[in-house]
Amino acid sequence: MIGTSYLGATHAICMAHLGYDVIGVDVDAEKVAKLTAGVVPFFEPGLTELLEATLATGRLRFTTSYDEAADADVHFVCVGTPQRRGENAADLSYIESAMASLAPLLTRPTVVIGKSTVPVGTAERMLAFLHEHAPVGNQVEMVWNPEFLREGWAIEDTLHPDRLVFGVTSSTGEKAMREIFASMISTGVPVVVTDLATAQLVKVAANAFLATKISFINAMAEVCEVTHADVKKLSEALSYDGRIGGRFLHAGLGFGGGCLPKDIRAFMARAGELGVDQALSFLSEVDAINQRRRARMVDLARECVDDSFKRRKVGVLGAAFKPNSDDIRDSPALDVATRIHKAGAQVTVYDPAAMVNARRDYPALTYAASAEEAIDGADVVLHLTEWQEFRELDPVALADRVRQRHIVDGRNALDAERWRAAGWHYRALGRP
Ligand code: UGA
Repeated sequence: MIGTSYLGATHAICMAHLGYDVIGVDVDAEKVAKLTAGVVPFFEPGLTELLEATLATGRLRFTTSYDEAADADVHFVCVGTPQRRGENAADLSYIESAMASLAPLLTRPTVVIGKSTVPVGTAERMLAFLHEHAPVGNQVEMVWNPEFLREGWAIEDTLHPDRLVFGVTSSTGEKAMREIFASMISTGVPVVVTDLATAQLVKVAANAFLATKISFINAMAEVCEVTHADVKKLSEALSYDGRIGGRFLHAGLGFGGGCLPKDIRAFMARAGELGVDQALSFLSEVDAINQRRRARMVDLARECVDDSFKRRKVGVLGAAFKPNSDDIRDSPALDVATRIHKAGAQVTVYDPAAMVNARRDYPALTYAASAEEAIDGADVVLHLTEWQEFRELDPVALADRVRQRHIVDGRNALDAERWRAAGWHYRALGRP
């Protein structure tokens, strides 16, 4: 398993759990040391327990040395493909250096299985590179096997995926994949066998669709705001139409994280290179709607403090880009918190899991040890990541801790009636 960040570590642990001998390779010695010691370097429910259990079987180990993985029957490529600084396109340097390290070690026929999210055409380039540089030459098989796991549900999504996609160039590749995933296939998981290009596209198309669905309902929220309609009710009513469905139709502060935002941008950049930028121009609107929600949240908060943040105290509930995660990459919550801080307010943030990451990357903000502490003396409270812990807060008990009882629910997840009944001025995105 080449790359042991979120995807690679989860996949390595789950494959060892399924009974395979797995060796995770990463150039980051600190990550390798942590995983070897049974410590998962990120927050993911259940993963620490599964890591400990699989390490104990002796089937799983981690190393910084590619040489130790040289004799593997198959090589999964799980390295990151972040957004290039200042550009929409994906940075493929990790993939390129992984291929450069792996190629000289391939001395016998082998299958290289790509799982990273890549611009279409990358797999074909990787395969050509391996054929040229591996001692075994064109006996390297390439398979593209996109991964759809969600943070917070990583184990469940890996062990019980809703589909398996195998992008292959020959029956040898398909046979290898059917063997590796036999236990899942036997439970009825649908398998879609495609060429390399289609498999690479499936992943970005899926994320583009999910982002579009979120921005669609957030665009409806914008219309609701000027018509005094209720986007939550609107979304509920749409959800009963089986053709539409209710998942990913929650209006609020919009999407963030290490995947959706950068994937739609990289997809647009790739479409431009391929001369079909018009086909994906709607994705720039999807991105723009998403950004506008953040600005709207700041405006709502400003309205609560008489149009000026100067010398105001703002309590922020949530820092992670979504609940059950400590991931703060492109976090809508921290973006909003930072904008308000820059506008002159004292912003105090609390998150159940993402405090270490938030403090490291956003040192200018103030941090509290609990939700209660974050809202102490606040002029307005902002609910920006919908952790269960925040839904369970008692608005009656909190009422006396704040200077003004203003709450803006950026995730449409709190019980509006309960907060209003406790004397709070409750506002939300897309709702009266
Ligand atoms: C996403 C995809 O859902 C996974 O299928 C995919 O494998 C993964 O990216 C990836 O490419 O690796 P993830 O980034 O973990 O997974 O997060 P999501 O659960 O998709 O949520 C993304 C963002 O959308 C979050 O900020 C969430 O708060 C927001 N969201 C989600 C909404 O605003 N409304 C919704 O209805 C749903």
